[in-house]
Amino acid sequence: METLRVGIVGAGWMGHVHARAWAENAPRGEVVAVADVSAERVKHLAAEIGRDVHSFADLEGMLDGAEIDAVDICLPHHLHTEAIVAAARAGKAILCEKPLCTNLDDAAAVRAALQQSGSVFMAAHNQLFQPSLIEARRLLASGALGRPFVFRSIEAVQNRGFASGRHQRDIGGGESPWVWRADVARMGGGEVIDTGWHAAYRLLALAEDRPVEVSAMMDRYAVKQLAAEDTGVILVRFASGAIGEMLTSWAFGPVGNWHFEVGAEHGSMAGGQGRLVHQLHGWPEPVEFAPFTHTLALTFASEVTHFLDVVQRGEASQASFDHAARVLQLTLAAYAAAEGHCVVALPEDPTLPGVPATSGELARA
Ligand SMILES: NC(=O)c1ccc[n+]([C@@H]2O[C@H](COP(=O)([O-])OP(=O)(O)OC[C@H]3O[C@@H](n4cnc5c(N)ncnc54)[C@H](O)[C@@H]3O)[C@@H](O)[C@H]2O)c1
Repeated sequence: METLRVGIVGAGWMGHVHARAWAENAPRGEVVAVADVSAERVKHLAAEIGRDVHSFADLEGMLDGAEIDAVDICLPHHLHTEAIVAAARAGKAILCEKPLCTNLDDAAAVRAALQQSGSVFMAAHNQLFQPSLIEARRLLASGALGRPFVFRSIEAVQNRGFASGRHQRDIGGGESPWVWRADVARMGGGEVIDTGWHAAYRLLALAEDRPVEVSAMMDRYAVKQLAAEDTGVILVRFASGAIGEMLTSWAFGPVGNWHFEVGAEHGSMAGGQGRLVHQLHGWPEPVEFAPFTHTLALTFASEVTHFLDVVQRGEASQASFDHAARVLQLTLAAYAAAEGHCVVALPEDPTLPGVPATSGELARA
C-alpha cells in the first residue's frame, strides 16, 4: 500500500496534535507539507515532525506547490468551507476538524463540491474512537440491553484558556486560539458549536437515529470573554421516539467525568473516559468492564487510522459529510430553539434548516 502524502493546513494546537496522530500511523500516511499564515508556527510544527516538510503560507500555495494526496484542515471555523471546497476542487482526500462549517448554505456548497470532485471527506470526530464508546455501541448493537429509549451525552470542562489567553503549550507565535473563539463571526457561535460538537456527534452515534425535534436552553455563566454562551442543555427527539439530552459547558466539569448514559428496556449503561458500566434492571449491582486505556492522543491516532481505512481500503466512513452535516443542522437548530424559546423540527435533508414546530401552540398556552 502506498503512503498517503498529507498536507496539514493550520499549524496551531490541532495541527500539532494531528501531526502526532499521523506519526502514529506511519508509514500508511505521512505529513509532507504544512501551511499556516504564521511562519513561526509552520517552523515549529516542521521541527516537531522532524523530517523535511514543505512549508507554505496558505492552502492555495500548498495545493499548487506540494505533492500531496490529502489535506488535513485544522483551521478556525469560518475558514473550513473555503478550505474544503479548494481541496475538493484539487482532487484531494479531506480530513477536516470540527465543526464541518458554520452555516447550512456553506454545508450545501461543501456537499456540491464533494459530489463534483468525488473526493473522500471525513470529519475529525475523534471522540468516536474513545474505547468506552466503541464498546458501548457494540453492546447496544448486540441487543443485550433491549430497546434503548433515553440517551445522554455530556461534554463539559471548566475552560481556563480564555483567562490565560495562551495555548496549552508553546507552539510558536501567532494569534491566540482564544481570540478567534471569542469572535462569534469566526467561531460561528459559542461553546455549543465548539466543544458541544463532540456531545452532539456522540449522541447521534449512540442513538443511530435521525433527530427530528430539538429544544434548548443556553447561557453564559463563567467565561466573560465570550459574547455567546458557555453552557447549553439541549433536548432531542429522535425519529424512533427515543429522547436524547446533551449537556455541554466551558463553565464546569461534571462529577466523575461521565460522558454518556443510556436507558434501555433491559438495563442502563454509563460511560466515561476510561470506564463503562452497565446494570440490568433488577440486578443489585452494576457491572464494570475492565478499565479502558484512554488518552486523547489515542482517539486522534485512531481517527487518522479510520481516515486511512476509508481512503486506502474503501471502508465506510463513521464521520462522513452526512454525519457532520446532521451535527451542524442539530447544533444550529439548538441555537434557534434557545433564541426563539421554541421546539424546532428538523427536515430530513441535513443541509436544510430546522423550523419552529410548536411556537403557535406555545404562544397560545
Ligand atoms: N477535536 C478536538 O478535540 C479539538 C480541539 C481543539 C480544536 N479543535 C478544532 O481544530 C480547529 C483549529 O483549532 P485550534 O485550537 O488548533 O486553533 P489554533 O488557533 O491553535 O490553530 C489555527 C491555526 O490556523 C492558522 N490560520 C488562521 N488563518 C489561516 C489561513 N487563512 N491560512 C492558513 N492558516 C491559517 C492560525 O495561524 C493557527 O495556527 C478548529 O476547528 C477547532 O474547533 C478540535
